Amino acid sequence: MITIALYSMKGGVGKTAAAVNLAHLASSDGFRTLICDLDPQGASSWYFRIRAGKNFNSSKFIKGGRGIDENIKGTDYPGLDLLPSKLSFRNLDLALDDLKKSKTRLRKIFSEVSDEYDYLFLDCPPGISLVSENVLDAADIVLVPLVPTPLSVLTFEKLGSFMDKKEFDAAKVYPFFSMAERRKSLHVETMERLSSENRNVLASVIPYRSEIERMGVYREPITAHMPGSFSAKAYSALWAEVKDLAAGNVRKPHG
Ligand SMILES: Nc1ncnc2c1ncn2[C@@H]1O[C@H](COP(=O)(O)OP(=O)(O)OP(=O)(O)O)[C@@H](O)[C@H]1O
Ligand SMILES: [Mg+2]
Repeated sequence: MITIALYSMKGGVGKTAAAVNLAHLASSDGFRTLICDLDPQGASSWYFRIRAGKNFNSSKFIKGGRGIDENIKGTDYPGLDLLPSKLSFRNLDLALDDLKKSKTRLRKIFSEVSDEYDYLFLDCPPGISLVSENVLDAADIVLVPLVPTPLSVLTFEKLGSFMDKKEFDAAKVYPFFSMAERRKSLHVETMERLSSENRNVLASVIPYRSEIERMGVYREPITAHMPGSFSAKAYSALWAEVKDLAAGNVRKPHG
């Protein structure tokens, strides 16, 4: 099982939108896929119209085992399951802090389902916390949506310093541009600069489009709802790149 986290310290940058669409594309390719909603806001659960059971909570989650198995739900898409979040996930940090090996718990929880899935997508809450440290430990690939502005780049660089300090492998972090607007010269300049400075920047760009914003209205991955759209094609291109990374293929540098 390959674990892919959609993570950023910043809120509202397109983590959930990417997690939902990439997970849908992975399952459409025939991969057994699980998406785990780690955010107490429950946005990815909501997009798939799934609610967690009454008895599921953050303590059950961090215990792992049967509590997880019982709460994984099938989605409307073949091969795609979801582990929904609960509001109590706002306490995940505290719950983790009480444990021994508190920084590697997520890896342990998901190792128990690793034979059942080819891909696990983690839809992460914003922030930098013990949950984030668990995510950075558990993920094989960390995808960071980056709105192309100088401030976002600064926040991204802080993630690099944090990972170095905590001795995580920063080489597994791949930023991609999200909510990008080609008519804004600031966006274009920022994309060009970062792409030339950081060879891990993915070539696929997710544009700012109202059809993506409207996912909240139709409550489906856009790759299912409007598969021929410009936005769905952008997510497909991103998925093709990520799949290549997951297969360990060497990436061609892009200009
Ligand atoms: N490419 C896009 N173009 C237009 N709107 C977008 C795009 N991506 C996401 N949105 C919208 O922006 C809002 C935030 O997106 P999303 O929930 O994916 O971000 P997030 O990083 O997961 O946020 P949070 O940190 O709150 O979890 C949502 O209303 C979503 O519909
Ligand atoms: Mg989100």
